[in-house]
Amino acid sequence: MRVDVVTIFPSFFDVLEVSLLGKARASGILDVRVHDLRDFTTDRHRTIDDTPYGGGAGMVMKPEPWGQALDALVADDEANEETRPTFIFPSPAGERFTQATARELAGHRRLVFGCGRYEGIDERVFDYAETLGEVRLLSLGDYVLNGGEVAAMAMIEAIGRLIPGVVGNPESLVEESHESGLLEYPSYTKPAVWRGREVPPVLLSGHHGHVAQWRHEQQLDRTRSRRPDLLGDDESSVV
Ligand code: ADE
Repeated sequence: MRVDVVTIFPSFFDVLEVSLLGKARASGILDVRVHDLRDFTTDRHRTIDDTPYGGGAGMVMKPEPWGQALDALVADDEANEETRPTFIFPSPAGERFTQATARELAGHRRLVFGCGRYEGIDERVFDYAETLGEVRLLSLGDYVLNGGEVAAMAMIEAIGRLIPGVVGNPESLVEESHESGLLEYPSYTKPAVWRGREVPPVLLSGHHGHVAQWRHEQQLDRTRSRRPDLLGDDESSVV
């Protein structure tokens, strides 16, 4: 998968060099390229924002550098395929980004993340991007970050680890929180007793059926108490 990121803070993304995603980049499974929005400005001051029409607080990102950046990225496509990129603009005003969104986007050939700062990006940029590909405004949750960078990083990690070959043991992905619509069951390792706390005996029993049943009950209990919103009105759909 190719992932392009447009930002005024390219160094935020240095962290993608490390860990699992760093390995995926090194092996070519994930081709991530980070671009500085200011490189697409044409004035001496490399201006990327201006005051909002209609008044109000803060600054709005100007459409011209975004237009230049998106055009350049669409033109730079070695695959030269018919399929168009998917543009993702992290935004607290977007649709909710969930594990299902991550799974869907992991199947896309090319993603372009546009990271806005300040009060946002001129709305016409989203209309224009729709002429070049699919456009998604996605929110991590109901809180406001200073800009799209941290959100884009979280989304790249959530999506990237679902690409085959990125996580060494694909089975580890199956039993995670949110994959089944429930939170993950608790995990334990040796020693069997630590600081007076015992591992639940069923896990030492060697009885796979009992272990599976216990884990499922734990998933339900945790989800009921911590995230009842995931169960909805009809719990029978997940039992
Ligand atoms: N940018 C600012 N806040 C955000 C959020 N909650 N999710 C995604 N992008 C954001």
